[in-house]
Amino acid sequence: MPKRLVVFEPSGLRVAADASFTILDAAREVGLHITNECGGRGTCGKCHVFVEPAGRPTRQDIEKIPVTELGKGARLACRHKTSRAIRVILPQRAEEAKILTEGVAGHWELDSSLNGQFGIAIDLGTTTIAAFLLDLSDGVQLARAASLNPQNVFGDDIMSRITHVMREENGAKVLQRRVVNELNQLATQLIQAAGVDAAEVTRVAVVGNTAMGHLLLGTDVTSLGLSPYAPKIYNAVTQRARSIDLHIGESTELYVAPNIAGFVGGDTVAFILSQQLDSTDDVTIGIDIGTNGEIVLSNHGELVCCSAAAGSAFEGASIHHGMRGQTGAIEHVIIHDANSQAEVTVIGDVAPQGLCGSAIVDVVAEMKQAGLINTTGRILEGSPMVESNEKLGLFYRVWKSDEPKQRKRIIFTQKDVRQVQLAKAAIQAGTRLLLEEVGLGVPDIDRVLLAGAFGNYISPKSALTIGLLPRVDISQIIPVGNAAGEGAKGLLLSLESRAKAERIARDTRHVDLAAHEDFQSVFLDSIALV
Ligand code: FES
Repeated sequence: MPKRLVVFEPSGLRVAADASFTILDAAREVGLHITNECGGRGTCGKCHVFVEPAGRPTRQDIEKIPVTELGKGARLACRHKTSRAIRVILPQRAEEAKILTEGVAGHWELDSSLNGQFGIAIDLGTTTIAAFLLDLSDGVQLARAASLNPQNVFGDDIMSRITHVMREENGAKVLQRRVVNELNQLATQLIQAAGVDAAEVTRVAVVGNTAMGHLLLGTDVTSLGLSPYAPKIYNAVTQRARSIDLHIGESTELYVAPNIAGFVGGDTVAFILSQQLDSTDDVTIGIDIGTNGEIVLSNHGELVCCSAAAGSAFEGASIHHGMRGQTGAIEHVIIHDANSQAEVTVIGDVAPQGLCGSAIVDVVAEMKQAGLINTTGRILEGSPMVESNEKLGLFYRVWKSDEPKQRKRIIFTQKDVRQVQLAKAAIQAGTRLLLEEVGLGVPDIDRVLLAGAFGNYISPKSALTIGLLPRVDISQIIPVGNAAGEGAKGLLLSLESRAKAERIARDTRHVDLAAHEDFQSVFLDSIALV
């Protein structure tokens, strides 16, 4: 097969790619990430790049890319082969992503006799990785680092990666190698920043969702891709870091947190641990919303949990102008007047390029408050901000450039509203069914803890308005940041925490929503914006 030169900008990386490769494949070859929420199936429209010379647009290009961008050479990277020498300009740089690292700290019983020893705690997320270097003798954090999970070239969500493993003979090895390489790089950065010797790093503790833990350890994930989604590993794993090619100290120990279920993993255990949900004397709901919303309910220390398939709307995927929380993303929206342009806040000092999760929740909440949608979620006509066209139907214009030469605008379509309704209904139904499971109702809730980046950046007021969170007083909603990362630190520092984590994983009752007889009716009942 002939090879063609592909040059990526602005990095300048180049590769002689097989002519049968897509641009997305070629980017993978050089380790570049192009957003590919549908895993390269041509349905999400998020992989668009600018190509020179650009080939004829495909049907999917025309469907997914605005005509003005098409004219500038925008094409879907997964739909175009590298059948001639091309230059590919990536519209966003991965390092601009806003990554949440810290959270509300836990309290740990430190192990004794660890003087002169250091450790690395890692929150291994599907999207991002946060890593911390701590002094094991006193628990002081000396350095932190973060990056995007490089497995993202095989799909942004867990299922795409599991599918990749199921389809490709060496898929699991490739995914493991990518993440291990990244962890080696993060460890090097941390060791240099803290000025310690690699040989003094004696422990590494990793928390992640069940699939991330399995992939890191090189364990088969096939069972996570098929009902009933049972993990191969439930218990914590402790082994030498070198056994998976994590090269830190010669005898550095690797600890990977235990899992509760196929979609409730060690990161949720770490969340429970850091916020001491196993020993609360109140009723607390903990929610970590990502592609899967993990929900934990502590009824005076009795724990039940579930995973709600929220889809990717809150991650910006499946939303017409959705994007991740990175430079150029609108992060907050306020509609002061239904008849004039909304006020928007953008990450970085640049023109808006799209809406990230927090803004997506704001738009629906603000449209509801401004009377631009009704409780069924239907966009209402009458405001000059509401327009329609044949392709998209009704849409709300969130932002429009006032530069006379630019026609750029950010819109929120009727389909987008529906996507948010489905996502919020999944979370709402999960919360309702957990409460029902322990015989409680919303008035019994004392606190709602929001973990993770989405929970940290969303407006609690907007989340309450659309019914994403149970209707408690706003003062009862507490963002706790990267609670999983904090739990990872506890698992690094304290063997007592590890024993507690095992108990949490064993004793937390998992409610399988897909198999729950009331799920469908509660889900349908949760779709309305009331
Ligand atoms: S459309 Fe190309 S990855 Fe989704």
